Amino acid sequence: MNQKDILGLYDMEAAVIDEILTRGLAYKSELKRGNKVFHALSGKSMVTLFYENSTRTRCSFELAGKFLGAQVVNISVAASSVQKGETLVDTGKTLDAMQNDVMVIRHPASGAARLLAKTVRAHVINAGDGMNEHPSQALLDMLTMREHFGKISGLKVAILGDIYHSRVAKSNLYGLTKLGAQVTMFGPRTLIPAGIEKLGAKICSSREEAVDGADVVMGLRIQLERQKAGNFPSLGEFAKYYGANEEVIKYAKPGALIMHPGPVNRGVELTSALIDGDTSKIEDQVLSGVAVRMSMLALLGKED
Ligand code: CP
Repeated sequence: MNQKDILGLYDMEAAVIDEILTRGLAYKSELKRGNKVFHALSGKSMVTLFYENSTRTRCSFELAGKFLGAQVVNISVAASSVQKGETLVDTGKTLDAMQNDVMVIRHPASGAARLLAKTVRAHVINAGDGMNEHPSQALLDMLTMREHFGKISGLKVAILGDIYHSRVAKSNLYGLTKLGAQVTMFGPRTLIPAGIEKLGAKICSSREEAVDGADVVMGLRIQLERQKAGNFPSLGEFAKYYGANEEVIKYAKPGALIMHPGPVNRGVELTSALIDGDTSKIEDQVLSGVAVRMSMLALLGKED
């Protein structure tokens, strides 16, 4: 890898994605054996700067940094000088002046991570920017698929739900198609972004069509905080017409994986039977998240 920052998968080369996944699989195997002491970031420092809520992403970046030997500081935006009106650029310059090596940022505005990356000397990792990209989530999803199937190329991945607001769906679309997977999508017409077919997605007219022959069925969280009123009538109607359930999943390949980035709205995007079923990878995705973030951090650290 030869890049300062990781801002998205749209402009990441397939070879780099492959390198991150290969190293991530090795870290996952070590984590499963209980090994948590590595030295790739020994002597380095890392800051997490989250302007939006998070459980999985913030915690797994923190653990990943600590397992690699970095000094990690978590900034709570609610308790920082952001509340006194400090801009993102000024906050970035302040953290840079403290000689931080890596900044991990989540922000509600698309493009915020790119702005920070242009401003600071430190490596910047985008942990989710508005409706744009969430590269570490897509990489952990691909790592989970590659570990299970041994490959990404040739897989059919069905993504259901709120595609419009989902940075997870967009990063997965970019990454999966670069590695040779087919991506089908279905959701309310009001929640399908215009022109997404041009980026490689097949937009389907029913859940059954999207899921037909799929190796993986991925639900997406309904992002109530980003919804404009009227995109769909109610959560009950969403579950009934757009969610995945035991009947819909019969159209997928036998043993198809059930995935979801979390947090899940149980009974809305996926039924509890699917979430807790034998082929659900939702908890395994969380471990993949620590491993793939270790890989991203280690590969960026190599650039110094
Ligand atoms: N999938 C995901 O980004 O979860 P968090 O919001 O908990 O980080």
